[in-house]
Amino acid sequence: MLKTVEKVDPAFRADVLNGLAEPIPAIPARWLYDRRGSELFDEITRLPEYYPTRTETALLQDRIGEMARLIPADSAVIEFGAGSATKTPILLHAVDPAAYVPIDISGDYLRESAARVDAEFPGMKVYPVEADFTNHVDLPPEIAAMPRLGFFPGSTIGNFVPQSATDLLRHFRTILGTGARLLIGMDRVKPVDRLIAAYDDPAGVTAEFNLNLLRRINRELGGDIPLDAFRHQARWNDMMGRIEMHLVAARDVEFTIEGRNFAFAKGRSIHTENSHKYGPRGARLLLLAGGWTPLAEWNAPGEDFALILAEAERERFAP
Ligand code: AVJ
Repeated sequence: MLKTVEKVDPAFRADVLNGLAEPIPAIPARWLYDRRGSELFDEITRLPEYYPTRTETALLQDRIGEMARLIPADSAVIEFGAGSATKTPILLHAVDPAAYVPIDISGDYLRESAARVDAEFPGMKVYPVEADFTNHVDLPPEIAAMPRLGFFPGSTIGNFVPQSATDLLRHFRTILGTGARLLIGMDRVKPVDRLIAAYDDPAGVTAEFNLNLLRRINRELGGDIPLDAFRHQARWNDMMGRIEMHLVAARDVEFTIEGRNFAFAKGRSIHTENSHKYGPRGARLLLLAGGWTPLAEWNAPGEDFALILAEAERERFAP
C-alpha cells in the first residue's frame, strides 16, 4: 500500500507511539479533535445530558451586564481559541471592545470565525492570530495601548492537569500583561451520576467521539486497531476531582501502528481525556496559583458552572 507520508503529523505520531508504550497508556486529548472529532464534539454540546455548553451560554447571557460593568471601556478582548458562534457575540455585544483577537492553532477555523465576527461587528477591529496558545504568542502591535480582557470559556482549563493549568494561566498572564483581566469558565464538581451521564450519553455520541481517536490513528498513522475491541468508558476520579475518558480493551487484542506491535490484555485501557471539575475554593486557588486574583464570580443555578473574572495583579510576596 502506498502511504501518503506527507500527511503524518510528527507530533501526533510521537504522542501516540510514546503514549501507548507508557505503563499507564494515555494519548493527549488534543488529538480527539480532527474534523470528525470536532463535528462530534459539536454534537455533544447539543445532547440533553451534556450540560456545560448550554449552562455556560445561559449564564453568560443572563449576567453579561454585570460582567461588562467590570471591564474597562475600549478594551481589547483576546480569546484563547477561535470564538464560539454563540458565546463570543454575547460578550462582544455587551463589552463593546475596540478590538477582538482570537488565537487558534487551526488557521481555517480561525479565519472562518474571525470573518463571522468581523461581519457582525463593523466598528470593531478583528486581529486573528494563528498560534498554539500554549506556546509563544505575539499580540498584534495595534492593541499595545489598550486594556486587555482574556476570554477562556468552555471549561477548557479542565483538560489540563493542575500543574499544566497553573503553567497555562501564568503563560496567559505573560501574554496579556500586568493589569489585564481574564474571564474564565470552569465546570463545577457535582453528583457523579450527572457527570457520568454527561460523558457517557445513552445515544453513544461521546463513545463515538472517543473511538474516533482510534479511527484517526488507523487512518493517519497506518494502524490496524480493531475498533470493536475497545469500549468507551467515563470514570470519575475522586482523588483528582476529574472525569476521565478511557478506551478499555473488551478482549485481549494485538495491533500494529507504523510497524510497532502493541498488546492490550482485556480490561487494560488507553486514557484519552481529563476533565477537571472545581469547587468554589479550588477554582479560586487555581487562579491565584496561576497569578490571577479573582475579582467576581457568577454561578449558574445549582452551582453547575462558573464564570470567574480575575485580574493579573502585580506579584506581591508579603502582606
Ligand atoms: C471541550 C474539554 C470542555 O471536557 O467537557 C466533552 C470535551 N469530552 N465530552 C469537556 C468533552 C467529552 C469538553 N471540553
